[in-house]
Amino acid sequence: MNKRPTLSIKPKAGPASAPAAAPKLRASHHRDLKPALQTQFKADLKPDSLAFALLGAATAVVQVHGGTALPQALAGVFANTGATPQQRGAIQDIAYRAMRQLGRSEALVAQMAPKAPDPLVGALLACALPLMAANEDGQPPYEEFTVVDQAVTAAAAHPDTARAKGMVNALLRRFLRERQALLDTAMLQPVARWNYPQWWIDAVKAAYPQQWQAILATGNSAPPLTLRVNTRKGSVEDYLKLLEGAGMAASRIGPTALRLAKPVGVHLIPGFDQGLVSVQDAGAQLAAPLLDVQDGMRVLDACAAPGGKTGHVLELANVDMMAIDADAKRLQRVQENLDRLGLEAALRAGQAQERDWWDGRPFDRIVADVPCTASGIVRRHPDIRWLRRKGDALQLATLSGKILDNLWHMLKPNGKLLFVTCSLWPQESEAQAAAFAVRNRATRLDAPGQLLPAGGNEQDHDGLYYALFQKPA
Ligand SMILES: C[S@@+](CC[C@H](N)C(=O)[O-])C[C@H]1O[C@@H](n2cnc3c(N)ncnc32)[C@H](O)[C@@H]1O
Repeated sequence: MNKRPTLSIKPKAGPASAPAAAPKLRASHHRDLKPALQTQFKADLKPDSLAFALLGAATAVVQVHGGTALPQALAGVFANTGATPQQRGAIQDIAYRAMRQLGRSEALVAQMAPKAPDPLVGALLACALPLMAANEDGQPPYEEFTVVDQAVTAAAAHPDTARAKGMVNALLRRFLRERQALLDTAMLQPVARWNYPQWWIDAVKAAYPQQWQAILATGNSAPPLTLRVNTRKGSVEDYLKLLEGAGMAASRIGPTALRLAKPVGVHLIPGFDQGLVSVQDAGAQLAAPLLDVQDGMRVLDACAAPGGKTGHVLELANVDMMAIDADAKRLQRVQENLDRLGLEAALRAGQAQERDWWDGRPFDRIVADVPCTASGIVRRHPDIRWLRRKGDALQLATLSGKILDNLWHMLKPNGKLLFVTCSLWPQESEAQAAAFAVRNRATRLDAPGQLLPAGGNEQDHDGLYYALFQKPA
């Protein structure tokens, strides 16, 4: 048994930075921890120690290297370790930090290690090094020597890392001694400077030669918690008063969008369980008003889960709403959200590029929030940059082109179709919209086009794309 004193997993400072929802990425390569390793993991580490959280996070990071989305990898770690909610918070926070600084951590390790470490050792270092960097408030989240001590304890506790515990110790101590020189050298490499794969940096530079640095920087910032006020249940002003009464500071960043100064768990948000508000990015809140829905219209949300836009449309008018999604399990989230908001829609599991789910009655309005690379929401999902490959945008654009063409047939004359992506890549967005309009002789109406991700006092939203089409009469 480990005789070291237990160190609390509670960080000195800094908010947990996990997103509210996970986007669907490539097929999961999730692999469980082997039971033997799991037992070892549990027996040797105090569950409330930083070492436990570091090893849990490192196990998830290894899986991201293998192609698994971080939320899925974390879910596996939580299940296998039986982590408590507090431990889950600590593991999650460390893993998300590791994703945001992976390029830098790997460059630092490459400078200091004589040869590439084994995967779990590398992941442990990638989890420990960011804990020595300052938070936005200028303070590191943990005492530096605590991080070293606990990383070594974590290494000693796992058969795949035990032999490397001396190396982990030496490397982290060297980092503390020579930090500036090591960082100066690492920062010469764009991957370490920006913490994105080189192809991603090149693609952002090529598409946005003026704004590329701001885009990359925003993607590394902690995401805000933004609420959408359900104006069926009360005004934005009234809800702001409710927040004030609960001692929660917030600022208005859109017609119905309020950003909480401090993110909290959803059930701690006043009136959340009663449907007074939903969690939705301010940029995503532009979708429903663009549709210009009127009472009695028939509306389709074609890629609906978890139902953010479905709920918003229903808050704006009494429409006959159908919501479909290819993922039946995710469709349950739509139902839960509608139940919470007290709203109704017909839900169907189905592929938006097929017609087997359609009853043949055309729609006045269609939202097509198509599957995409999610390159515009990397601040919420920092693993995406490491999971995606350069060719993904083109592959996904082929599918979304089919979805758009299919949905167009389901639209009434004069009806409107809103095409949405959370991508930065023009192949998936503007190039797709332009080709679609030509193919289908669709009239383009005013829409924001490409919204670049922005974080700041006035504007704070994800990177989204909007195009609005009208069918000829
Ligand atoms: C960007 S998310 C939608 C977010 C949602 N509109 C909202 O505002 O909450 C894309 C959704 O498309 C679904 N999807 C993926 N491929 C699909 C397909 N071929 N047909 C329908 N839905 C699909 C995914 O399961 C995912 O839930």
